[in-house]
Amino acid sequence: MLHLKLETDPRWVNIAESNLEEILTDHAWCEQKAATNAITIITLNSEYTDLVTDLLLLAQEELEHFKMVHDIIKKRGYKLGRERKDSYVNELYKFMNKGGNRLQSMVDRLLFSAMIEARSCERFKLLSKEIKDPELSRFYHDLMISEAGHYTTFIGFARKYGKEIDVDKRWKELVNFESEIIKKYGKSETIHG
Ligand SMILES: [Fe+2]
Ligand SMILES: [Fe+2]
Repeated sequence: MLHLKLETDPRWVNIAESNLEEILTDHAWCEQKAATNAITIITLNSEYTDLVTDLLLLAQEELEHFKMVHDIIKKRGYKLGRERKDSYVNELYKFMNKGGNRLQSMVDRLLFSAMIEARSCERFKLLSKEIKDPELSRFYHDLMISEAGHYTTFIGFARKYGKEIDVDKRWKELVNFESEIIKKYGKSETIHG
């Protein structure tokens, strides 16, 4: 699915559903980070009008997701915990070439963003299929569709503006890099854990 090399072990869902307050808190902050990341891309690349237009919409959707998760947290009598670090994303961040020109940096950041969407989408799909809670199953199914659209948006802009760069080669490198990282995960009640 979405060209990822490694699929998550379905037993991860048992861990996730054993502590719903924790997974929902972690998930809420994932949505916040996704919104923040989209705004960072806009800030760094403001001259690309179509990119700014689409990423403003995407950032709004991520904030809406954040609100939806928070609404579920409130409805169930939980409280949104403090921001959780995302060590998977922090490890993935190391892939980005920080010394290149602006265009290379933009393409790398778009591919990095596409990868997080792809993995989140894979996790949401698994949750929607395996979680016993019917409300959360529907919720994760809807989010899976939305995050798949975000993946397409990020990859699309990387291809559109990265014509001088071998984007497919860079994407393949990232897919391999990610598959090494994700091997260590799938063992805790966080979205990328
Ligand atoms: Fe989202
Ligand atoms: Fe997203």
